[in-house]
Formats: sequence, C-alpha cells, structure tokens
Amino acid sequence: MTKDEILLARSEFLFPAVFHIYREPLVLARAKDQYVWDADGRQYLDFFGGIVTVSIGHCNDEINARVHKQIDTLGHTSTLYSSGPTMQLARQLAAISPGAQLTRSMFTNSGSEANETAIHAARMYTGHSDIIALRHSYHGRSQLAAALTGNQTWRYSGAPSPGVTFAHNAYCYRCPFGLTYPNCELRCATDVKELIRTTTSGRIAGIIAEPIQGVGGFITPPPEYFGLVADAVRQHGGIFISDEVQTAWGRTGSKWFGIEHWGVAPEMLTSAKGLANGMPLGLTLARDEVARAVPSPTISTFGGNPISAEAACAVLDFIDAHDLRERTADNGAHLRAGLLALQDKHPLIGDVRGMGLLQALELVTDRAARTPAAAQTTALLEAARQQGLLVGKGGLHGNCVRLSPPMNISRGDIDEFLLRLDRSFETIGIQ
Ligand SMILES: Cc1ncc(COP(=O)(O)O)c(C=O)c1O
Repeated sequence: MTKDEILLARSEFLFPAVFHIYREPLVLARAKDQYVWDADGRQYLDFFGGIVTVSIGHCNDEINARVHKQIDTLGHTSTLYSSGPTMQLARQLAAISPGAQLTRSMFTNSGSEANETAIHAARMYTGHSDIIALRHSYHGRSQLAAALTGNQTWRYSGAPSPGVTFAHNAYCYRCPFGLTYPNCELRCATDVKELIRTTTSGRIAGIIAEPIQGVGGFITPPPEYFGLVADAVRQHGGIFISDEVQTAWGRTGSKWFGIEHWGVAPEMLTSAKGLANGMPLGLTLARDEVARAVPSPTISTFGGNPISAEAACAVLDFIDAHDLRERTADNGAHLRAGLLALQDKHPLIGDVRGMGLLQALELVTDRAARTPAAAQTTALLEAARQQGLLVGKGGLHGNCVRLSPPMNISRGDIDEFLLRLDRSFETIGIQ
C-alpha cells in the first residue's frame, strides 16, 4: 500500500477515536534498533519506542533470531496446554521478582488485562472490594482499567468506578496541598488514612499504583511516599499492586522493577509493554497465597503465547547479558544532566523528572506561575519530528514531553538527541 492508501484506509476503516499525535500523520515503514523510517524514507531517532515499549531496540537481532525459531516450532497453545517458553518465562520471572517473593505468573495480552487480573485477585484474596488508585494514573482502556485511571482524558465515556477511590499522588511540582517537599511531611501520603476513613468501607482490597506515573507525565514521588501509603493500606487489610507496565525490566536503572527504588515489597505487580520488546504480552505476578485465592478454572486464549513468551525470555536474557540495568542508570544520569542543561537555557522547561531512561520535561509558559504550556508541547513534538526525533507526550494538561529510548542506547545517540532537542526548542521559542 502507498502512504496515501494507508492513511485513507485508516480514516475509512478504523474507529475514528484512534488518533494520530502529529498534524501530518506519521506512517512508519520499517525500523532497526534505535531508528525508525517513515513511508517517505526519512529516518528518526526513536526516543519513545512505540509507547515506552521497545525496550532493547526495534527488530533486535538476538530477539528476532529466537522468535523466528519459535514461530517455526510452536506458535500457539492457549493456557489449556503447557509449553517450554512460557514455563521458562514464569521461572525467570519468579527468580527476578522483588525479593523472589512473587512466584506465580498469570499471562494475558495487555497491560489493561494484567490490571483486571490483579484487581480480581486482590478482591478474591482479601474478601474486600474497595480499591485505591492514584490521581493522574493510567491503568488501561478496558472498563475497569479506565475506572482505575485518574485522568479525565482516558476515562472515556465516564467509566463508572464503583469501589474505586482516588488518593493524591506525590506530584511535587504541582503539590495538591500547595506544600513543598520535605517540609510538607508527605501530606499527600498521610492523607490516605483520611481517604480510607471518609470514602471507603474501611476494608480495603488494595492499592494500585505506578511507581512513576507514565501517562501522567513521569511523576516521580519522593522516597518515603510509597512506604507510607502501603502501610496505611495494609492496616486496613489491603495489598499493594505495583503497575509496572512502564517502569519494569530495568527501565528505571539498577533494579528490575520501579517499586524497588522505594523499598516497598508489593504483593502483586503487573506489566506488559517492554517485557517482550513489542510483542503482545500481559503479566500479573503475585505472591503464592494471593494467586491461590483466584478461583479455578480460569483461561486465556492468547495468554502466555509461546512466541511472545520466547521473545520475553530473550529480552530478559539480553538485559542481563548486556548489563542493561546498570547501563540504564549511567546513561539515564547522562541524559538527565543534558536535560537539566537544556532547562537552564530554555525557560519553557519547568521541570525535569524521572529515573534511569524514563525522563520527562514539563513545559510551562511561566515558571513562577507554572502555567501549563500545552500548545507549545504540541509544537515541540512537531519541531522534534522535523529534527528527526520521536518523543512522547503526556500529563493531565498535555504539557509533558516523555522520553524512553531503548535501554541499549549509546552515549553518542543520547548526545545527538540532546543536540537535536535543543534545536527543536530553539525553533519554537516561547509561543
Ligand atoms: C502504567 C500503565 N498501565 C496499563 C497500561 C495499559 O496497557 P495496554 O495498553 O497494554 O492495555 C498502560 C498503557 O499505556 C500503562 O502505561
């Protein structure tokens, strides 16, 4: 199909709700490692990886070799049968899970489904129904996952949320209490006790939280936050579910999982996206006793598909073999330093935040008033595209630039990215 035929087919045959992020839609033709090429042959340095999904480069040779072999050997089983790659993956996940305590996997198709599974398991395990989620969160596009989401854009047609109540997250740049860390004494976290007393039955099934809120604009809480919140929830019988759809697999540097930076041991975690480097795979990982509470039988047609599972095993092996968790910490610090230097130069950059190779810029038209620069963020994405860069967007106000390059990116590519991002900011100035 030509580019025009592709775009015409999209506009005629897809749900109109499926949107493009650029003024001129971007049609991708091929990709390799850190680059993608559009239908006109233009190359882009990809610092978004789909949506924080291409963890170790597009069409990675080592992953593809194993996928090719698997696709010619065994392509589908369903959960009614067992296969080597799926069980090998479950074994690897149990070993690397926080404290090696989450030993039971349920494989599905997506992050949304992984979260559905986790909420069901939490309710079965505790016998309680009340769930706490965080404001600014994103947990997926199914009805329940949208109901757990604390961002009006993604709550679709007013997703009803019976049994879900929303706590304040630690959005220090826009503190909901108008306080400043650390003098605030974590008012956002201590508020959870009052939230439980005033908006729930007092019998909590669990809290679901992203360690760093992805769609929310990589909001990164201070070190004490999750410990305090987890304590409050556990005092009311609930468990902690870490939504690691964007933060797992070393993306935050040094650790396999984001929540490990906060020293909280979750009873469950969920993931998808980067686990299989772009192949569809949803994961709910739970403590043995939590998993045992899920009533039998259960089934998933595509869950644990051997091709996706083999890709995921290959991703985990690649991250280990290339020491990518440590490399991500080092290269993340390098990227962060470059972004802070850009903040000194461009008044539009109000905040720089994130961990490892999950970094965001929050853009404001007035640093003192912190006025969200939504139109300028859109313009920045267009300018970056002109400079041959792909970056993401996020935040409640649509004023955050999200960066998540492949974890095996080189220093040279990060420097090249910073150079072109600087030029992109120069092009737009303050509009
Ligand atoms: C933190 C988080 N949870 C869940 C999801 C939903 O994942 P999926 O789109 O695979 O259903 C996303 C997707 O962006 C996400 O960022």
